[in-house]
Amino acid sequence: MSRPLVIELDRHALRQNVQRLRSIAPHSKLLAMVKANAYGHGLILIAQALEPLVDGFGVSCTEEALLLRQAGIRQRIVLMEGLLAADERTFLAAYQLETVVHDCHQLKLLTAQRLVHPVKVWLKMNTGMNRLGFSLQEFPEVWRQCQACSWLEVAVLMTHFASSDERHVPTTAHQLALFERATQNLAVEKSIANSAAILEWPQTHQDWIRPGLALYGVSPFADRIGSDYGLKPVMQLNSQIISIHPLQRGEKVGYGGVWRNPRDTRVGVVAMGYGDGYPRCAPNGTPVYVNHQCAPLVGRVSMDMLTVDLSHQPQAQHGDPVCLWGHELPIETVARHAGAFSYELLCGINRGQLVRMHIEEKK
Ligand SMILES: Cc1ncc(COP(=O)(O)O)c(C=O)c1O
Repeated sequence: MSRPLVIELDRHALRQNVQRLRSIAPHSKLLAMVKANAYGHGLILIAQALEPLVDGFGVSCTEEALLLRQAGIRQRIVLMEGLLAADERTFLAAYQLETVVHDCHQLKLLTAQRLVHPVKVWLKMNTGMNRLGFSLQEFPEVWRQCQACSWLEVAVLMTHFASSDERHVPTTAHQLALFERATQNLAVEKSIANSAAILEWPQTHQDWIRPGLALYGVSPFADRIGSDYGLKPVMQLNSQIISIHPLQRGEKVGYGGVWRNPRDTRVGVVAMGYGDGYPRCAPNGTPVYVNHQCAPLVGRVSMDMLTVDLSHQPQAQHGDPVCLWGHELPIETVARHAGAFSYELLCGINRGQLVRMHIEEKK
């Protein structure tokens, strides 16, 4: 008997999310961001489900790219962090990978020594994120060097937004203006928009959109959930009640006794804890669904268990289904209670602990 934790992935939702994003940005190609193990969903399963629907995949490193190629993925793949070492150059041709080039070190790796096969690069400009990308001052010379290099093809010019998930700050419009001004005379495809920009900044869509979080049905905006944008959650995190015990009024529950029971009730123990990726910081009252009804979290989350208040479910019993997030409980709601970030919750899921994983069609 194994622990009853299951991630269900809803292929139908994934497909609908792609369609939704395509309808929002109908003139753009779609680079599906599957870095960080497809935001915790499972790189190969997600990429195989997405391959016929998208125009390419964004991964962080060659290891992820090779996993995709070994799994038979033939779509375009872009290394979003670019080359990190000289020996990675051989992979570009061998596995037909494209790469972001964001600094002089990478440009040198690609231009210093003749490459037998041409390489498509995504040239990245820093317009204010100040993480990766050539400065506006460097950019004309970088462009010139790329044009002069017969084995490099600049496929796309790109930049990345720092604050597109904040609707009312001027940063996004400013970054867009800088990018447009610097690239207006360059006849090459352009890409700027992450999920937040796709959903709220139509002027940023350009030739390629690069959705991550929204693909998985989750809102990048703290005050919205995916369904507000017609998106559906792809990940359903499920478990079961593994024990129930009565608790008298005034008794405490769990480590540190941070919850004191206000009435005689029953507490359910759920097989799910911070070792599995559930946020330890989730406080008393964070919603958990038992038998499709809310049974709030009580007491501190432990490594492999958490406890819920079953006061309103006298019929609940050992083995009953529990949903930690998914269709009936948006991950955005759990993140808000826990003071966490949906991105972090998804990426933090510890799949090694999860005994079953399958893609399920939900109609
Ligand atoms: C360069 C780049 N583009 C797009 C994305 C996708 O972002 P989001 O998940 O907010 O759509 C990321 C994610 O980190 C990124 O680094």
